[in-house]
Amino acid sequence: MNRKLAIATLLIIYLVIAAGAIVRMTGSGMGCPDWPKCFGHLIPPTEEAELLWRANTTYERGQVIIREDHLEVARKDFKSSEFYEESNWENYEKHDYAAFNPWHTWIEYINRLLGAIAGLSTLLLFLSSWFTRPKRTDLRLLSAILLIGILFQAWLGATVVYSVLNPFRISLHMFMALVLVAVLFIYYEKTVERKLFGQSSILGKYLLAGFLLTLLQVLMGTQVRQYVDSSKEQIGSNFFSLQGAETLLFYIHRSFSILVIIFHLWIYNRIRKDHSSLLKTQQIILTLIGISVLSGVIMYYFDFPFSTQPIHLVIASILFGFQIYIWLRSYRSTNETVN
Ligand code: HEM
Repeated sequence: MNRKLAIATLLIIYLVIAAGAIVRMTGSGMGCPDWPKCFGHLIPPTEEAELLWRANTTYERGQVIIREDHLEVARKDFKSSEFYEESNWENYEKHDYAAFNPWHTWIEYINRLLGAIAGLSTLLLFLSSWFTRPKRTDLRLLSAILLIGILFQAWLGATVVYSVLNPFRISLHMFMALVLVAVLFIYYEKTVERKLFGQSSILGKYLLAGFLLTLLQVLMGTQVRQYVDSSKEQIGSNFFSLQGAETLLFYIHRSFSILVIIFHLWIYNRIRKDHSSLLKTQQIILTLIGISVLSGVIMYYFDFPFSTQPIHLVIASILFGFQIYIWLRSYRSTNETVN
């Protein structure tokens, strides 16, 4: 039960990562300008007319309207009269972004719904771990970390909106998703092998080194993305070409891939000789590295064609997961040889 729930939660979190990447690609981040509701609604509007002030309409406290290019929030539940009454409304103070695009709103809304489902799934995992008999303190602890982590992640999501998509906040939000992925993999492996971190093998150390190399690459990638985002904002256009506008960090990010590839090929060679049970996973890792590099090259040389940004991010996140997994699995294969 716990294992199945952990897998389900992991898959949902990956869906949220993919949805988040689509939000970014489509520029839908401010589709819901408030949080956790969307324009003050549980289910957001589909037409702008629903967001304009109307006479003889019932408004609920917290409901948002767009008026004279800014957002206003209903102070209380009330029914509007024939005329707009200022005392019923207050300005939305968190930011001054007030545009409505139904596509952006619904893309962001679906992203939030998936986030809420991930939260529920984590809560279930926590409850299920708590009531597991015989008692498993390790699973209880890990599921508590996950629950706190996902609440923190939801709060980070809110700060991303309040900061009107501050690039650093976006990176932090993405990084936290990867932390959740890592803890879920540890949880999963703990349901298979209770004494997980037993005897470490030399291969385990290499796999950990490979994982850390990729992590560094991911961190540099987020910095490149922050630069791309700020550049787009500065020129005020969604079209941006990195060619001719490269930074040193971009060059390092690009060339570092060569090190990542060589190191993982070398590990593959070692696994082929001594640890055939891990061979398939390492092949998947190599394929994911290949797709990351290919999508990176396409983004750079073809000026970010449609869908390459989410592909680059989602593949890098899946790669991150598989690397944690193979590293944890190396303990299992060590135990197998020890037993
Ligand atoms: C092992 C290989 C690689 C990994 C794991 C990787 C990972 C990442 C990650 C995680 C990001 C941040 C994405 C985001 O936050 O949305 C990123 C951004 C980026 N990477 Fe890579 N990357 C790799 C190779 C490359 C290569 C070879 C290139 C170019 C030739 C490249 C070009 C870029 C660019 C242009 C960005 C900014 C993308 C954006 O603004 O959406 N990457 N990378």
